[in-house]
Amino acid sequence: MKRILHVTSSPRGEASNSNKLGNKIVEKLQSRYPGSTVTVNDVVETKYAHIEAELLGAFMGMGEASAGRHSDAAVEQLEAADIIVISVPLYNFNMPSALKAWIDHIVRAGKTFSYATGKPQGLLKDKKVYLAIASKGVYSDGPMKGFDFSEPYLRFILGFIGLTDVTTYRIEGDGLVENAVENGLASVEIL
Ligand SMILES: Cc1cc2nc3c(=O)[nH]c(=O)nc-3n(C[C@H](O)[C@H](O)[C@H](O)COP(=O)(O)O)c2cc1C
Repeated sequence: MKRILHVTSSPRGEASNSNKLGNKIVEKLQSRYPGSTVTVNDVVETKYAHIEAELLGAFMGMGEASAGRHSDAAVEQLEAADIIVISVPLYNFNMPSALKAWIDHIVRAGKTFSYATGKPQGLLKDKKVYLAIASKGVYSDGPMKGFDFSEPYLRFILGFIGLTDVTTYRIEGDGLVENAVENGLASVEIL
């Protein structure tokens, strides 16, 4: 039994390829670990704010602590999960800004990372992450390889807070490559 957190960031609901792929990963996790619980955080709906003065004050322990409540809740949700599935539509060669806003709420000094020992230390431990990336183009190979900036950044920033065990699945080339969706869904393997 695992506690699964599914973070989604496409506004396209059931039509979304990143949601379909994330749901497939969750489904396979549920058969691998019967009785698992699933919490969904749709960051488009949750609407995490851009970092502005009040929020920054709360992050730095100054001003109204209540300004940081969405961030505290997002960190608690992450801490409570054993497995995190992140559905990522590729927008302009990167993640959607709604997902970056979530990242800005979970990367917190003293909560998810620390420089207390003089070098950066991730404070989250023993969690598995799956990225479910959907794109129109093909980035896993070919001329566009290297131009998906979402995956390397997500791997780096998640590693920075201690989430170093990351596996990526993709639906890529939908409309350009035959059976792109089916092949992406079929590629999901949970060991
Ligand atoms: C605003 C916007 C920007 C996009 N930028 C890219 C891009 O840079 N590269 C790409 O391959 N596809 C791009 N696409 C296509 C999406 O990645 C593709 O439709 C994907 O399936 C979206 O994820 P979703 O199905 O989960 O909503 C873009 C789509 C939108 C709406």
